[in-house]
Amino acid sequence: MIVEQAPAKINLALHVRSRRDDGYHEIETLFAFVQDGDELRLADGPPSLAIEGPFAGVLTGEGDNLVTRAAGAYAAVFAKPGGAFTLVKRLPVASGIGGGSADAAAALRALARRDGVSLDDPRLFAIADSLGSDVPACLLGRSALGRGRGEQLEPVDGLTGMPVLLVNPGVAVSTGPVFAAWDGRDRGPIGDGALLGRALLGRNDLEAPARSIAPAIGDALALLLDGAGTRLVRMSGSGATCFALYDWPEDRAAAANAVRAARPGWWCLESVLA
Ligand code: C5P
Repeated sequence: MIVEQAPAKINLALHVRSRRDDGYHEIETLFAFVQDGDELRLADGPPSLAIEGPFAGVLTGEGDNLVTRAAGAYAAVFAKPGGAFTLVKRLPVASGIGGGSADAAAALRALARRDGVSLDDPRLFAIADSLGSDVPACLLGRSALGRGRGEQLEPVDGLTGMPVLLVNPGVAVSTGPVFAAWDGRDRGPIGDGALLGRALLGRNDLEAPARSIAPAIGDALALLLDGAGTRLVRMSGSGATCFALYDWPEDRAAAANAVRAARPGWWCLESVLA
């Protein structure tokens, strides 16, 4: 049995630069990964996918899970069998932290490890690219600047060990409609320098359109901004998950307790950046 972690991604900044003719948007984004996320297990056997964990219910019965699509594409490209996958779904679905993309990337990594395929094989990245804009970043699995749809990646030095709190107000948000609600104004590129500084000077251009679709995002941001010791508070991806970065785990713990007390139904993850 092969076990692969599928860590959540966050966008430390996400600048939307222009609409493209193919329906996508040209973006610049700073990807970072947290240490926790979903887990994917691969065993020998006929192709199958079992889903367990706190968010399994949302996905069960869904025919075209990204894990299944990743395994199908891998089998076609490498002429190797799929396998029996078990996904432990711990990350909320449609929440801006790349859960499905992380699962797909973990499936590709698990199959590659089983078959002795190098994890930097360009064919894996081509499959990842075909599965979704965030899948290549999840396959790379380290801090990076993403351009294009988010698939053109340039690794950057990360913020390993930095305490992070993720909060989701329990509203599923689809990516397409959020991009479609972007106002079309290019607010400029991501700057140069060290990662945290670039992030602090950056923004998430999808926050305003996402808030118009899911106003609870504003409540999540306000709660995080209320806490002491935050270095950065921002929405991730197209929402609705918001995150805060801290210097000290004690500040993260206090903020998490405050969120749990104020909003017992919300999802809250205390972690560190990978
Ligand atoms: O690539 P992915 O399938 O994850 O994207 C979902 C949707 O998000 C796309 O169909 C598109 O509407 C939107 N999107 C976009 N620009 C990007 C990434 C995604 O418009 N850079």
